[in-house]
Amino acid sequence: MIIELKNLEKINIYAFQNDLISWFKQEQRDLPWRKDQDPYKIWVSEIMLQQTRVDTVIPYFNRFIEWFPTIEDLAKAEEDKVLKAWEGLGYYSRVRNLQSAVQEVSEKYNGEVPNTPEEIARLKGVGPYTAGAILSIAYGIPEPAVDGNVMRVISRVLSIWDDIAKSSSRKIFEKAVRQLISHEDPSSFNQALMELGALICTPTSPSCLLCPVRDHCQAFDEGVQNELPIKTKKAKTRDVQLAAAILMDENKKVLIHKRPSTGLLANLWEFPNVEIHHPLQKEREQIVELFQSSLDVNVKLERIIGQIQHTFSHLVWNIKVYSGTVISAFQESEEWKLVSFEEMEEFAFPVSSQKMLKLYHEYQIE
Ligand code: ADE
Repeated sequence: MIIELKNLEKINIYAFQNDLISWFKQEQRDLPWRKDQDPYKIWVSEIMLQQTRVDTVIPYFNRFIEWFPTIEDLAKAEEDKVLKAWEGLGYYSRVRNLQSAVQEVSEKYNGEVPNTPEEIARLKGVGPYTAGAILSIAYGIPEPAVDGNVMRVISRVLSIWDDIAKSSSRKIFEKAVRQLISHEDPSSFNQALMELGALICTPTSPSCLLCPVRDHCQAFDEGVQNELPIKTKKAKTRDVQLAAAILMDENKKVLIHKRPSTGLLANLWEFPNVEIHHPLQKEREQIVELFQSSLDVNVKLERIIGQIQHTFSHLVWNIKVYSGTVISAFQESEEWKLVSFEEMEEFAFPVSSQKMLKLYHEYQIE
């Protein structure tokens, strides 16, 4: 594919690099993964920063590195503990892939993150963005690291009108970054693009008057910075109705369930729940029956303690939350356990379950 970037010739590349990198060196935020160039830490931070904001990531990153300071520590950690470290961050396959990949690095590369684009891109969960980020930030190799933020910045600087929501557009932006990137300091260059996207060249109302590369920006020159990037909307999410229950036995232990090892929220724990296909039709009976048939346990639903909504990238869960009791004897297994509230802290739950637990505790206080 031949990609034409006609606006590149309008830019003084050297001056652009200089203005961008000088600004970054003065204005960059003090972030924990910027304290050294350990490729493992850069890797962890970049995986966390996919889909999650910097402010949210900081405490997770610090705790993750405290629990798993090296590749070897993460490689041999229990998956339950790794999921616990990620609890609340979402997109849990990110951390499962990360652990598989560091196991491969441990076995195949003697614990050293590889430093070639070919080898690093073969690791599980390491796409072109993460590969470019690790290679440039940890190893100083001039590879592009193009995510949504970088596409936004570059679409404005070079007035590129391709749709950044299309996966085929990434190549256009990678080509642009390959031409623009500083070979003296690719690490600062890539991080500066990310930082500019986060602090100045924001999605709505970019702060052009504070921008260090305004003089190089085609969109600013043409007055179209608010029209770029072009980003078409994603398909609508699907709505799912669920009923979930916090069910306690006579010893004040709560029933929890481990989700299957594949699919959404794989291997995380949750409160038992069922999908309601015909809301309002004898709902309680439907739920009790489903528990009876899928779990072989008799339960009694008591109150509705609230309603929760949780949005994933492709679907929305609307969960009606019940409290209730487990009334028959119950055989614990790998997937079903009765735990005290204190013991529950050792298990990794998705955010929707944490919201339910909060509802439950609030309900007890009222
Ligand atoms: N977003 C993605 N990677 C980042 C990084 N290394 N620093 C700040 N924000 C980022």
